[in-house]
Amino acid sequence: MTRKISVLLVDDDPLLRRLVTEQLSRSGFEMAAAVSGEEAIEALQATDYDVVLLDMRMTGMTGLDALREIRRLDDPPEVIMLTADTSLGTGIEAMRLGAYDYLTKPATLDEMEAVIRKADEKRRLVRQNAGLRAAATRGTSSGEEGAHTLVHASEAMRGLVSIAESAARLDSTVILTGESGTGKDVLARFIHSRSARGDSPLITINCGALPEALFESEFFGHEKGAFTGATAMKRGLIEAADGSTLFLDEIGDLPAPMQVKLLHFLEQGRFRRVGSTRDRASDVRIIAATNRRLAEDVQQGRFRIDLFYRLNVISLHVPPLRDRREDIPALLDHFLALYRERFQRPALTLSEAARRLLESSDWPGNVRELRNTIERAAALSETDEIEAAQFAQLAGRETTTAAAPVRAREADADVPTRTLEELERQHILRVLEETGGNRERAAIILGISARTLYRKLREYEEDGK
Ligand SMILES: Nc1ncnc2c1ncn2[C@@H]1O[C@H](COP(=O)(O)OP(=O)(O)O)[C@@H](O)[C@H]1O
Ligand SMILES: [Mg+2]
Repeated sequence: MTRKISVLLVDDDPLLRRLVTEQLSRSGFEMAAAVSGEEAIEALQATDYDVVLLDMRMTGMTGLDALREIRRLDDPPEVIMLTADTSLGTGIEAMRLGAYDYLTKPATLDEMEAVIRKADEKRRLVRQNAGLRAAATRGTSSGEEGAHTLVHASEAMRGLVSIAESAARLDSTVILTGESGTGKDVLARFIHSRSARGDSPLITINCGALPEALFESEFFGHEKGAFTGATAMKRGLIEAADGSTLFLDEIGDLPAPMQVKLLHFLEQGRFRRVGSTRDRASDVRIIAATNRRLAEDVQQGRFRIDLFYRLNVISLHVPPLRDRREDIPALLDHFLALYRERFQRPALTLSEAARRLLESSDWPGNVRELRNTIERAAALSETDEIEAAQFAQLAGRETTTAAAPVRAREADADVPTRTLEELERQHILRVLEETGGNRERAAIILGISARTLYRKLREYEEDGK
């Protein structure tokens, strides 16, 4: 562990301040001191500390008042009260106000160390939860239902999964390559969950989805006042991922200045929040993914070669679905089961012709496309047996296997005059009518996001013009 626990000692007794600061520094804590409650609060607004040791009785603001103020801070540190009072009353009052614990002076160094470490551990858990929630609200965490199972049957995937299992046991950086929709997210989650860090939440960031201006503050966090609009201190994802894994999706889209900063962090294990001069450490394992050919980006100067080598410790390539067709039947069964439950249609099955069509398709959008196709058909099929006609759009596609065109032609017999798009449109408009035009409810019934619904409705409007 390289990370030092930072401690702010607040006491108006200069001798005690010096003594405790010296002792705890020697034990490996990063120490700072304040002489009063007022000064402590100022310090905490500017800089983040893990733990505060707060004297109960001080001139000026009392310890309890300072505690109240500290607890009101955004993302407060854990506070340990120091009291000379041996009666329980004040200690209990402090705990009621949110102190982590209290120590009766004179506390031994061992006692202090033990309580500080426990307080820090609690804070770290709180922070991980907060990081996870923040990531979820930013839409960076894939809390998607059914996104955790890694279905596979092919030789190629069996080999890949076994390498991934070994990689999980190491703490090395992993880079996942493969076309969009092949399952890189799923594999990253798999590696993380089987690693020693697997009990902590995986922190995910999509490097392609974030505006360049926000990158640094998202990654490294910022101090209060670091820039216009930075009204409060904010932790970055690197801190949220302390002790866990950070999944950098679409790493090929990382802007050049951020490539430098990420490399620096990977080399040093240290970083600075925007607007801070203080180095911080975070113990993070990196898994990166890209659907680009990074080596080409390196050659063309779009991606730093040193960062490439840093990331490329263990490299796993997920083949496109068309190159591992043996996985298709297992995936079909998996997603059918998922949507049977999701749509509460326990009798849902695929007709023989439908299954053949799906198994012979080339799936340029890989597993994601297969999944979406099943989802739509499961939502729209009026019969429990989903007919090949539901997949009309697949039938016309070029396929690479020799047998496939024949199969596609067989399935052609089922193609109705209405296209899938039309069926979908009718279905959506009907549900919308049933909900009296309530789009939120309609989206829930349709099992799509409100945003997708809005987009579709806009498209219909545009078509109608
Ligand atoms: N082997 C698999 N088993 C189960 N679901 C999978 C598998 N591979 C991909 N998926 C699903 O397909 C979709 C796309 O996968 P994802 O991991 O996001 O692809 P990528 O990150 O490569 O673009 C997700 O909904 C995911 O749950
Ligand atoms: Mg992905």
